[in-house]
Amino acid sequence: MDNFVFNSPTYFCFGKDTENEAGALVKKFGGSKVLIHYGGGSAVKSGLIDRVKASLDRENIPYILLGGVQPNPRSGLVYKGIELCRKEKVDFILAVGGGSAIDSSKAIAGGVPYDGDFWDHHSGKPVEKALPVGTVLTIAAAGSEGSGNTVITHENGMLKRGCRTEILRPKFSIMNPSLTCTLPAFQTACGITDILAHLYERYITDTKEVEVTDRVIEALMLTVVKEGRRVIADPYNYEARANIMWAGTLAHNNVCGVGRRQDWNSHALEHELSGLYDCAHGAGLAVVMPAMFTYIYEKDVMRFAQVAVRVWGCEMNFENPKETALEGIERLKNFLSSIGMPVTFSELGARQEDIPYLVDTLCDGNGRPGYIEGYLKLDKEDCTNIYKLML
Ligand code: NZQ
Ligand code: ZN
Repeated sequence: MDNFVFNSPTYFCFGKDTENEAGALVKKFGGSKVLIHYGGGSAVKSGLIDRVKASLDRENIPYILLGGVQPNPRSGLVYKGIELCRKEKVDFILAVGGGSAIDSSKAIAGGVPYDGDFWDHHSGKPVEKALPVGTVLTIAAAGSEGSGNTVITHENGMLKRGCRTEILRPKFSIMNPSLTCTLPAFQTACGITDILAHLYERYITDTKEVEVTDRVIEALMLTVVKEGRRVIADPYNYEARANIMWAGTLAHNNVCGVGRRQDWNSHALEHELSGLYDCAHGAGLAVVMPAMFTYIYEKDVMRFAQVAVRVWGCEMNFENPKETALEGIERLKNFLSSIGMPVTFSELGARQEDIPYLVDTLCDGNGRPGYIEGYLKLDKEDCTNIYKLML
């Protein structure tokens, strides 16, 4: 196991009716003027925004509102939010929604005290200062409620780029699983897929002797698959929603990724897809993962055979472990398909003729173009071959 530092200071407030704590938590973390930042309307329609406003009113904390965050959040609204926060002297941002509203909030938070263009932070420049961010989560998926990441798409070129920094970890996250019951089945499945991807990105490692994190990841994968099936069949099942929601946070606050090298090539390949086609991130990952794993599994057949046996219930073929490894990848693909995810380029709405463009614009997680490096260093030819496996 490698040396590591783990510092996940987010205060989590989990359970029924917890959105009513928003005002008290903003106060606890020093906010005196709030921007409530949210998405395209689901949080208004459900009455959640009104409950959050009432909670701030009870603490006499003034607020302004900025809605309209799109899935795959765009730079334009981030610029608008930065201007608004400066003009209105906002000192705390409260994201209400999913990864998109939270990531847009984080990008605004980093942009307000910064003299240059916030996009610098998505092109490799470290964030040095940021407004504090709190979240009220409405979808179990991206894990942004516990991560220091923000992923934004720049309208100039539709390039989707991440920024990773500890400064942007939320001060608090409110997680009421009941809020996720209104999700359409497709979004629920996209969330399940993204959570599984965050687990695979950490599981695929060449660091030796990482039994504890291997086992934590496997437990989370087993949970997400079991509860995922349950929630697709029974969307109002609170307990299934609750288990998936907490699994989503644990999958991405890095508790299960410490002390080991991680991959993240599936995410790099996917971000080009959701950047270009504006598809849901989870749906893109459902197409990428089986193809990627089929391309790379021979680097460590036993690791892929291990997840096949321990998570997907395959029987170990000691004579031919490759068969076991491939069967595990096939079972992953079948599971994704069974919950309604696309698993091919055409099901996603992607086009074969765009592969050269996708490969040309690829960047690693730090905005460095040219090749992507994780478990394997993938050059343009590798990435072309992987995209072709998705056809
Ligand atoms: O905009 P509204 O009307 O709220 O609708 C949203 C949106 O259409 C809807 N929704 C959310 N909660 C709902 C609901 N509809 C009904 N009831 C509810 N309770 O669901 C749709 C998707 O929302 P979004 O926030 O886009 O989903 P998600 O949480 O999957 O976030 C995706 C974004 O996060 C990024 C992705 O790339 C993508 O841009 N990621 C962020 C990460 C991070 N910051 O750590 C890591 C991830 O790997 C990922 O890259
Ligand atoms: Zn993801």
